[in-house]
Amino acid sequence: MNDFAGKVVVVTGGSSGIGRAAAIMFAQRGGKVVVAARRVPQSEETVRMMKEAGGEGMFVQTDVRVAAQVENLVKRTVDTYGRLDIAFNNAGKSGIFQSLVTENEEAFYEQIDTNLKGVWLCMKYELPEMLKQGGGVIVNNSSITGLRALRKLSSYSASKHAVIGLTNAAAKEFAPYNIRIMALCPAWTMTEMTKEFTIDPERKEKTARSIPLRRIAQPEEIAELACFLASDKASFIAGGAIAISGALDI
Ligand SMILES: NC(=O)c1ccc[n+]([C@@H]2O[C@H](COP(=O)([O-])OP(=O)(O)OC[C@H]3O[C@@H](n4cnc5c(N)ncnc54)[C@H](OP(=O)(O)O)[C@@H]3O)[C@@H](O)[C@H]2O)c1
Repeated sequence: MNDFAGKVVVVTGGSSGIGRAAAIMFAQRGGKVVVAARRVPQSEETVRMMKEAGGEGMFVQTDVRVAAQVENLVKRTVDTYGRLDIAFNNAGKSGIFQSLVTENEEAFYEQIDTNLKGVWLCMKYELPEMLKQGGGVIVNNSSITGLRALRKLSSYSASKHAVIGLTNAAAKEFAPYNIRIMALCPAWTMTEMTKEFTIDPERKEKTARSIPLRRIAQPEEIAELACFLASDKASFIAGGAIAISGALDI
Protein backbone atom coordinates (compact mmCIF):
# COMPACT_ATOMS: atom_id res chain seq x y z
CA MET A 1 0.00 0.00 0.00
CA ASN A 2 1.60 3.24 -1.14
CA ASP A 3 -1.24 5.73 -0.64
CA PHE A 4 1.04 8.57 0.40
CA ALA A 5 3.92 8.25 -2.06
CA GLY A 6 5.20 11.74 -2.84
CA LYS A 7 3.03 13.31 -0.13
CA VAL A 8 4.28 15.40 2.76
CA VAL A 9 2.42 14.89 6.03
CA VAL A 10 2.46 16.77 9.34
CA VAL A 11 1.28 14.89 12.45
CA THR A 12 0.91 16.92 15.63
CA GLY A 13 0.99 15.05 18.90
CA GLY A 14 3.22 12.48 17.23
CA SER A 15 5.24 11.69 20.36
CA SER A 16 2.79 9.06 21.62
CA GLY A 17 -0.56 7.32 21.27
CA ILE A 18 -2.75 7.92 18.23
CA GLY A 19 -0.33 10.45 16.72
CA ARG A 20 2.62 8.05 16.91
CA ALA A 21 0.59 5.23 15.36
CA ALA A 22 -0.57 7.54 12.56
CA ALA A 23 2.93 8.93 11.90
CA ILE A 24 4.28 5.39 11.48
CA MET A 25 1.38 4.40 9.22
CA PHE A 26 1.68 7.50 6.99
CA ALA A 27 5.44 6.88 6.70
CA GLN A 28 5.06 3.14 6.01
CA ARG A 29 2.69 4.03 3.19
CA GLY A 30 5.13 6.33 1.45
CA GLY A 31 4.61 9.74 3.09
CA LYS A 32 7.39 12.02 4.26
CA VAL A 33 6.22 12.65 7.81
CA VAL A 34 6.98 15.58 10.08
CA VAL A 35 6.32 14.73 13.72
CA ALA A 36 5.39 17.68 15.94
CA ALA A 37 5.17 17.60 19.74
CA ARG A 38 6.92 19.02 22.80
CA ARG A 39 8.72 15.96 24.24
CA VAL A 40 12.02 15.33 22.48
CA PRO A 41 13.02 11.71 23.30
CA GLN A 42 9.49 10.37 22.67
CA SER A 43 9.24 12.22 19.35
CA GLU A 44 12.67 11.05 18.26
CA GLU A 45 11.57 7.52 19.12
CA THR A 46 8.58 7.95 16.77
CA VAL A 47 10.91 9.07 13.97
CA ARG A 48 13.14 6.04 14.69
CA MET A 49 10.09 3.75 14.48
CA MET A 50 9.01 5.40 11.22
CA LYS A 51 12.43 4.79 9.71
CA GLU A 52 12.51 1.23 11.01
CA ALA A 53 9.21 0.70 9.20
CA GLY A 54 10.89 1.83 5.96
CA GLY A 55 9.60 5.40 6.07
CA GLU A 56 11.09 8.86 5.99
CA GLY A 57 10.57 11.89 8.22
CA MET A 58 11.79 14.23 10.91
CA PHE A 59 10.84 15.84 14.20
CA VAL A 60 10.14 19.54 14.72
CA GLN A 61 9.67 20.41 18.38
CA THR A 62 6.40 22.32 18.57
CA ASP A 63 3.99 23.55 21.19
CA VAL A 64 0.73 23.91 19.27
CA ARG A 65 -0.41 26.66 21.65
CA VAL A 66 2.33 29.00 20.42
CA ALA A 67 1.78 30.70 17.05
CA ALA A 68 5.49 31.22 16.28
CA GLN A 69 6.20 27.52 16.88
CA VAL A 70 3.36 26.37 14.62
CA GLU A 71 4.50 28.81 11.94
CA ASN A 72 8.03 27.39 12.30
CA LEU A 73 6.66 23.82 11.99
CA VAL A 74 5.05 24.59 8.65
CA LYS A 75 8.08 26.56 7.44
CA ARG A 76 10.53 23.77 8.36
CA THR A 77 8.26 21.25 6.63
CA VAL A 78 8.12 23.23 3.40
CA ASP A 79 11.83 24.20 3.53
CA THR A 80 12.77 20.54 3.93
CA TYR A 81 10.29 18.70 1.72
CA GLY A 82 9.04 21.46 -0.59
CA ARG A 83 5.32 21.18 0.18
CA LEU A 84 2.60 20.20 2.65
CA ASP A 85 -0.13 17.86 1.43
CA ILE A 86 -1.69 16.40 4.57
CA ALA A 87 -2.03 17.51 8.19
CA PHE A 88 -3.27 15.35 11.02
CA ASN A 89 -3.91 17.93 13.75
CA ASN A 90 -4.07 15.48 16.59
CA ALA A 91 -2.31 17.06 19.59
CA GLY A 92 -4.61 17.24 22.56
CA LYS A 93 -4.84 17.40 26.30
CA SER A 94 -7.23 15.45 28.47
CA GLY A 95 -9.32 17.02 31.15
CA ILE A 96 -9.65 15.96 34.76
CA PHE A 97 -13.06 14.58 35.66
CA GLN A 98 -14.51 17.16 38.03
CA SER A 99 -17.50 19.40 38.48
CA LEU A 100 -17.63 22.57 36.38
CA VAL A 101 -17.88 24.57 39.60
CA THR A 102 -14.64 23.24 41.05
CA GLU A 103 -12.56 23.46 37.87
CA ASN A 104 -10.31 26.49 37.92
CA GLU A 105 -9.81 29.00 35.14
CA GLU A 106 -6.27 27.81 34.43
CA ALA A 107 -7.47 24.25 33.79
CA PHE A 108 -10.22 25.58 31.50
CA TYR A 109 -7.74 27.54 29.41
CA GLU A 110 -5.33 24.58 29.23
CA GLN A 111 -8.01 22.57 27.45
CA ILE A 112 -9.08 25.39 25.18
CA ASP A 113 -5.53 26.49 24.34
CA THR A 114 -4.32 23.03 23.36
CA ASN A 115 -7.40 21.38 21.90
CA LEU A 116 -9.07 24.35 20.20
CA LYS A 117 -6.54 27.13 19.70
CA GLY A 118 -3.90 24.53 18.80
CA VAL A 119 -6.02 23.19 15.94
CA TRP A 120 -6.94 26.72 14.85
CA LEU A 121 -3.28 27.80 14.77
CA CYS A 122 -2.29 24.68 12.85
CA MET A 123 -4.93 25.31 10.18
CA LYS A 124 -4.05 29.02 10.05
CA TYR A 125 -0.49 28.17 8.98
CA GLU A 126 -1.16 24.96 7.02
CA LEU A 127 -3.90 26.33 4.78
CA PRO A 128 -1.86 29.01 2.98
CA GLU A 129 0.60 26.31 1.82
CA MET A 130 -2.24 24.10 0.60
CA LEU A 131 -3.86 27.05 -1.18
CA LYS A 132 -0.56 27.80 -2.95
CA GLN A 133 -0.35 24.17 -4.09
CA GLY A 134 -3.97 23.95 -5.19
CA GLY A 135 -5.12 21.34 -2.68
CA GLY A 136 -4.61 19.36 0.51
CA VAL A 137 -6.25 17.42 3.30
CA ILE A 138 -6.62 18.27 6.99
CA VAL A 139 -7.89 15.79 9.57
CA ASN A 140 -8.51 17.31 13.00
CA ASN A 141 -8.72 14.97 15.97
CA SER A 142 -11.82 15.82 17.97
CA SER A 143 -13.37 13.07 20.11
CA ILE A 144 -16.57 11.20 20.75
CA THR A 145 -16.79 13.89 23.44
CA GLY A 146 -17.13 16.40 20.60
CA LEU A 147 -20.42 14.71 19.68
CA ARG A 148 -21.73 13.71 23.10
CA ALA A 149 -20.68 15.71 26.14
CA LEU A 150 -19.30 13.77 29.07
CA ARG A 151 -20.57 14.50 32.55
CA LYS A 152 -17.89 16.19 34.69
CA LEU A 153 -15.66 16.81 31.69
CA SER A 154 -17.08 20.15 30.65
CA SER A 155 -14.02 22.01 29.33
CA TYR A 156 -12.71 19.02 27.40
CA SER A 157 -16.21 18.40 25.96
CA ALA A 158 -16.52 22.08 25.03
CA SER A 159 -13.10 22.14 23.37
CA LYS A 160 -13.84 19.02 21.33
CA HIS A 161 -17.32 20.26 20.29
CA ALA A 162 -15.63 23.48 19.18
CA VAL A 163 -13.08 21.57 17.08
CA ILE A 164 -16.01 20.19 15.05
CA GLY A 165 -17.48 23.68 14.52
CA LEU A 166 -14.08 25.01 13.53
CA THR A 167 -13.53 22.07 11.19
CA ASN A 168 -16.88 22.47 9.47
CA ALA A 169 -16.55 26.22 9.01
CA ALA A 170 -13.09 25.73 7.49
CA ALA A 171 -14.33 22.79 5.38
CA LYS A 172 -17.00 24.99 3.77
CA GLU A 173 -14.57 27.85 3.20
CA PHE A 174 -11.81 25.77 1.64
CA ALA A 175 -13.60 22.93 -0.19
CA PRO A 176 -13.88 25.12 -3.32
CA TYR A 177 -10.06 25.24 -3.31
CA ASN A 178 -9.71 21.44 -3.37
CA ILE A 179 -8.89 21.24 0.35
CA ARG A 180 -10.80 18.58 2.29
CA ILE A 181 -11.10 19.14 6.04
CA MET A 182 -12.71 16.68 8.46
CA ALA A 183 -12.89 15.90 12.15
CA LEU A 184 -12.23 12.48 13.60
CA CYS A 185 -14.15 11.42 16.72
CA PRO A 186 -12.62 8.46 18.54
CA ALA A 187 -14.00 6.86 21.68
CA TRP A 188 -11.83 5.36 24.40
CA THR A 189 -8.43 4.40 23.00
CA MET A 190 -5.45 2.79 24.78
CA THR A 191 -2.97 5.67 25.07
CA GLU A 192 -1.15 7.69 27.72
CA MET A 193 -4.20 9.92 27.94
CA THR A 194 -6.44 7.11 29.17
CA LYS A 195 -3.84 5.33 31.34
CA GLU A 196 -5.70 6.32 34.48
CA PHE A 197 -8.67 4.26 33.25
CA THR A 198 -6.79 1.29 31.87
CA ILE A 199 -3.91 0.51 34.26
CA ASP A 200 -6.19 -1.09 36.82
CA PRO A 201 -7.79 -4.21 35.24
CA GLU A 202 -11.13 -3.67 36.99
CA ARG A 203 -11.37 -0.06 35.84
CA LYS A 204 -10.30 -1.09 32.34
CA GLU A 205 -13.03 -3.72 32.24
CA LYS A 206 -15.62 -1.17 33.40
CA THR A 207 -14.51 1.29 30.71
CA ALA A 208 -14.63 -1.43 28.06
CA ARG A 209 -18.16 -2.39 29.16
CA SER A 210 -19.33 1.19 28.58
CA ILE A 211 -18.63 0.68 24.85
CA PRO A 212 -21.16 -1.43 22.92
CA LEU A 213 -18.28 -3.24 21.14
CA ARG A 214 -17.09 -4.15 24.66
CA ARG A 215 -13.47 -3.13 24.24
CA ILE A 216 -11.20 -0.12 24.15
CA ALA A 217 -9.73 0.80 20.75
CA GLN A 218 -6.05 0.42 19.88
CA PRO A 219 -4.32 3.58 18.57
CA GLU A 220 -3.65 1.82 15.24
CA GLU A 221 -7.42 1.45 14.66
CA ILE A 222 -7.85 5.23 14.93
CA ALA A 223 -4.72 5.88 12.86
CA GLU A 224 -6.17 3.66 10.12
CA LEU A 225 -9.22 5.95 9.82
CA ALA A 226 -7.03 9.08 9.83
CA CYS A 227 -5.03 7.56 6.97
CA PHE A 228 -8.17 6.62 5.05
CA LEU A 229 -9.64 10.13 5.39
CA ALA A 230 -6.33 11.67 4.31
CA SER A 231 -6.04 9.40 1.29
CA ASP A 232 -7.53 9.80 -2.18
CA LYS A 233 -9.86 6.88 -1.33
CA ALA A 234 -11.88 9.43 0.68
CA SER A 235 -11.88 11.96 -2.15
CA PHE A 236 -15.54 13.03 -1.74
CA ILE A 237 -15.47 13.30 2.06
CA ALA A 238 -15.17 16.94 3.06
CA GLY A 239 -16.43 18.38 6.32
CA GLY A 240 -18.20 16.50 9.06
CA ALA A 241 -17.31 14.60 12.19
CA ILE A 242 -16.57 10.95 11.58
CA ALA A 243 -17.09 8.76 14.63
CA ILE A 244 -14.96 5.73 15.40
CA SER A 245 -16.55 4.66 18.61
CA GLY A 246 -17.53 0.99 18.80
CA ALA A 247 -21.15 2.24 18.59
CA LEU A 248 -20.80 4.53 21.62
CA ASP A 249 -21.89 7.64 19.71
CA ILE A 250 -25.27 6.37 18.50
N1 LIG B 1 -7.26 8.20 23.94
C1 LIG B 1 -8.55 8.42 23.80
O1 LIG B 1 -9.40 7.70 24.37
C2 LIG B 1 -9.03 9.55 22.92
C3 LIG B 1 -10.39 9.60 22.58
C4 LIG B 1 -10.86 10.64 21.79
C5 LIG B 1 -9.99 11.60 21.32
N2 LIG B 1 -8.68 11.53 21.66
C6 LIG B 1 -7.81 12.60 21.14
O2 LIG B 1 -6.73 12.00 20.46
C7 LIG B 1 -5.63 12.92 20.44
C8 LIG B 1 -4.36 12.15 20.78
O3 LIG B 1 -4.43 11.70 22.12
P1 LIG B 1 -3.90 10.27 22.59
O4 LIG B 1 -5.06 9.53 23.09
O5 LIG B 1 -3.04 9.69 21.56
O6 LIG B 1 -3.07 10.67 23.90
P2 LIG B 1 -1.54 10.88 24.18
O7 LIG B 1 -0.78 9.63 23.93
O8 LIG B 1 -1.48 11.51 25.51
O9 LIG B 1 -1.09 11.93 23.06
C9 LIG B 1 -1.32 13.30 23.16
C10 LIG B 1 -0.33 13.96 22.21
O10 LIG B 1 -0.60 15.35 22.16
C11 LIG B 1 0.64 16.04 22.31
N3 LIG B 1 0.43 17.35 22.89
C12 LIG B 1 -0.25 17.68 24.01
N4 LIG B 1 -0.17 18.99 24.23
C13 LIG B 1 0.57 19.50 23.21
C14 LIG B 1 1.02 20.81 22.88
N5 LIG B 1 0.70 21.87 23.63
N6 LIG B 1 1.77 20.97 21.77
C15 LIG B 1 2.11 19.91 21.00
N7 LIG B 1 1.72 18.65 21.26
C16 LIG B 1 0.96 18.48 22.37
C17 LIG B 1 1.48 15.15 23.19
O11 LIG B 1 2.86 15.39 22.97
P3 LIG B 1 3.84 16.16 23.96
O12 LIG B 1 3.38 15.93 25.36
O13 LIG B 1 5.16 15.53 23.64
O14 LIG B 1 3.77 17.59 23.53
C18 LIG B 1 1.10 13.77 22.65
O15 LIG B 1 1.90 13.44 21.54
C19 LIG B 1 -6.00 14.03 21.42
O16 LIG B 1 -6.45 15.16 20.71
C20 LIG B 1 -7.15 13.44 22.21
O17 LIG B 1 -7.98 14.41 22.75
C21 LIG B 1 -8.18 10.54 22.44
